[in-house]
Amino acid sequence: MTARKIIIDTDPGQDDAVAILLALASPEEIEVLGITAVAGNVPLALTQKNARIVCELANRTDIPVFAGCDAPLKRKLVTAEHVHGKTGLDGPTLADPKMPLQDAHAVDFIIETLRAHPAGTVTLCPLGPLTNIATALQRAPDIAPRIAEIVLMGGAYFEVGNITPAAEFNIYVDPEAADIVLKSGAKITIMPLDVTHKALVTPHRNDAFRALSTPVGEAVALMTDFFERFDKEKYGSEGAPLHDPCVTAHLIQPDLFHGRHINVEVETTSELTLGMTVADWWGVTDRPRNATFMGDLDADGFFTLLTERLARL
Ligand code: RIB
Ligand code: CA
Repeated sequence: MTARKIIIDTDPGQDDAVAILLALASPEEIEVLGITAVAGNVPLALTQKNARIVCELANRTDIPVFAGCDAPLKRKLVTAEHVHGKTGLDGPTLADPKMPLQDAHAVDFIIETLRAHPAGTVTLCPLGPLTNIATALQRAPDIAPRIAEIVLMGGAYFEVGNITPAAEFNIYVDPEAADIVLKSGAKITIMPLDVTHKALVTPHRNDAFRALSTPVGEAVALMTDFFERFDKEKYGSEGAPLHDPCVTAHLIQPDLFHGRHINVEVETTSELTLGMTVADWWGVTDRPRNATFMGDLDADGFFTLLTERLARL
């Protein structure tokens, strides 16, 4: 099986970091062509720096990292330091990156990469607000049919919102961008809170990360120790939900996840429900089925895969 070529679009964020590490630990299934940073959990100056820190943690300074959009298409940036800390990677003490940031803009890299590779061979993996992806689609509509698949973390339906009562953070930050992506015609797989809230780092699972006795294992354990505070307090959950690693785990072992191919649209006007993803889970409309919306995962299988792969780094 040839590895899937992917671009990871990300706003690190501790869970983004684990998703990137999982991808870099899985060369049989995933070839990371590049990492594009977007403003989200923390401002762009930090997300692009954090993406490089994670590449260095994995000893993969060969991976090109690009800075992208520093604000949503039409709205003021909303960040999540209250969840991720002021650096965005609070928890472990990690050195500033030495590897360079690429000069090119992330959106240009996305467009040029999709045009340079045969149609249907490059997968986009957005882990943050969809501003870079939407900007690329607006600037170069020809890339839409060239995208093999967009596998994104974002949205929620039965689980409702984590940043407002109605909306999940990535979609809420840039709902107009999400609307463009959902209407792009590309093949889309969505990892919403409905599934990521089932990927909880319980103490036992975090002990397994620490027991790897490697710099990566220790860093991941410290990241999730920090990152879990928000969800434990808000949801009383057993540990940090590993949202973004669901995206890269799906590329490696898709049978861990179950969902439905349904219509998913996003609210872009109502202030009350801005950013809400309306998923027609019960098929009550004849709106076009534009995404596979995941609802369940084999959590033990997910953590077995994740721990085994992190042990490789
Ligand atoms: O709502 C969770 C999502 O928002 C995750 O991608 C997290 O990293 C933040 O970006
Ligand atoms: Ca993220």
